[in-house]
Amino acid sequence: MTASGTTTGGALALDGGTPVIEPAHRFQWPRISDDERAAVTALLERGELSYYGREGVLTELEEFWSGRLSGRRTLGLSSGTAALHSAYFALGAGPGDEVLCPTNTFLATVMPLVQLGAVPVLCDAEADTGNIDPAAIAAAITPRTVGITVTHLWGHPCEMDAILQIARRHGLWVVEDCSHAHGASYHGREVGTLGDAAAFSFQAAKIVYAGQGGLLASRETEVHERACLLGHFRVRSEQDVAGPLKRYASTGFGLNYRMHPFAAGLALQSSRVMDQRIAARAELLGRLADGLATIPGLVPPVTREGCDRGAYYGFKLRLTGPWLAAGADLVARALGAEGLDVHPPGSRPLHLLPFFADGAVPVRRNASPQQYPAYKEGDFPVAEEVWRTSLSLPTFTFADEAGLVDRYCEAFEKVAGQLPALTERGVRQ
Ligand SMILES: Cc1ncc(COP(=O)(O)O)c(C=O)c1O
Repeated sequence: MTASGTTTGGALALDGGTPVIEPAHRFQWPRISDDERAAVTALLERGELSYYGREGVLTELEEFWSGRLSGRRTLGLSSGTAALHSAYFALGAGPGDEVLCPTNTFLATVMPLVQLGAVPVLCDAEADTGNIDPAAIAAAITPRTVGITVTHLWGHPCEMDAILQIARRHGLWVVEDCSHAHGASYHGREVGTLGDAAAFSFQAAKIVYAGQGGLLASRETEVHERACLLGHFRVRSEQDVAGPLKRYASTGFGLNYRMHPFAAGLALQSSRVMDQRIAARAELLGRLADGLATIPGLVPPVTREGCDRGAYYGFKLRLTGPWLAAGADLVARALGAEGLDVHPPGSRPLHLLPFFADGAVPVRRNASPQQYPAYKEGDFPVAEEVWRTSLSLPTFTFADEAGLVDRYCEAFEKVAGQLPALTERGVRQ
C-alpha cells in the first residue's frame, strides 16, 4: 500500500491487470488562458496582422525580455531557429568556421550553422546534467574554431564559468540556446545574460509560447543590428540600425524573420505569468522527484548548487540497476499500459543522426558534397549513456495535477515490484 492507500501490487496492466490511471493520462500543454485568448482577439479586431516596424505588442514583448536580461538588446523573431540563425550570422560565422556545439541538444541549436557554411563540431556531455562538458570543449578547439554554443538542457544551466573562461582564453564568442531554460539562473545570473548572444524558442511546447516564435538577446549593439538586418528589411531596420550598416536598411541582408503579432501577443501574455508557472512547475516536479527518489534504481534530475532550472523544459528520469536491466523501452511500455504519459526521450544525440554520421552531405544541388566530421556510435559515450538511460515524464505545472503526480509515483512503485518478471519478458522477446 502507498501513503495514499492505493495498492501498488497486482498484475501489470501490460499483463491484463488494472491500470493505475484510467483513462490513460495525456499531458496537455499549453492551456490557453482567457488573457491569451483576449490578447489575440484584440489584435484581430484592431487589424494588427503584421508589423513592419518595432511596434505594438512586439515592442512590449521585447521590452519585457530586455528588462529581464539586464537591458540586453532584444529582437522578436519568427522562431527559435530564426533567432539562432540570426545570432550566428550576426556574430560572423562563415564558411569553414568551426563552432563547438553539444551533441546532446535539439537539432535547431546547430543546423542554422550549416546555412552559413560553418561546421558544427560536436562535444560530449556531462554525466549528471547532460549538458555540454567544458573539458570536451577545451579538447575540441582548433585554429578554425570561432565560437561555442551551449544549450541549457532541460532548464539546467551549463557550467558557464568554465565555458566563458575557455572562450576568453581563445577569443571565441558564446551563444546560449535558452530554449529549455526561460528564467533559469546560474549563480544568481539569469541565463541569456551570460554569453554574447542568447536565443529563446517560444514554440508551443515551451513555458513562454507564441505558437511559433523566438527571441534573440545580444550583448553588443553591432550584433543586434546585424541580426536585425538578416531578417528585417526597411522599417524595422531603419529603427534599429543606427551605425554604419544603416545604409543597408532598405534591403536588409536577405530574409524575412518577422514575428507575427498574434505570436508576440501570446508570448507577451505567457511571459508575464512565467514566473508563477515556473514556481508551480518547480513545486510539482519537486514532489514527483521526491516520490520517485524513494524507489531504488530511479534517479530524478539533478540540480547543481547555485543553479535554478527555471522553465524546467523536460523532466528526464534516469534509470539504473534493475530498471536498466529491463530496458527503457520496455519500462516505458509497462508504464504506458498503466496509463502514464512516459516515453524514451525524443531527441537522440545529434552525432547519431545521418547528417552527422555521413561526413559528406549534399547540402547544395549539383555541387560536391559538403564535408563535415563523420561521427559514429561510441564517439560521445556520456551523451549516449544519458540518452539510453533516460525516460521523459510530463512537466506537471497546474495545481490540479498534484493528484496525478502521486499516481505516477504509485505506478512506478507497482512496476518496481515486478521488474524481475518484466526483465524476464524482455529477455524472452
Ligand atoms: C534546444 C532548442 N533549440 C532550438 C529550438 C528551436 O526552436 P523553434 O522550434 O522555435 O524554431 C528548440 C525547439 O524545440 C529547442 O528545443
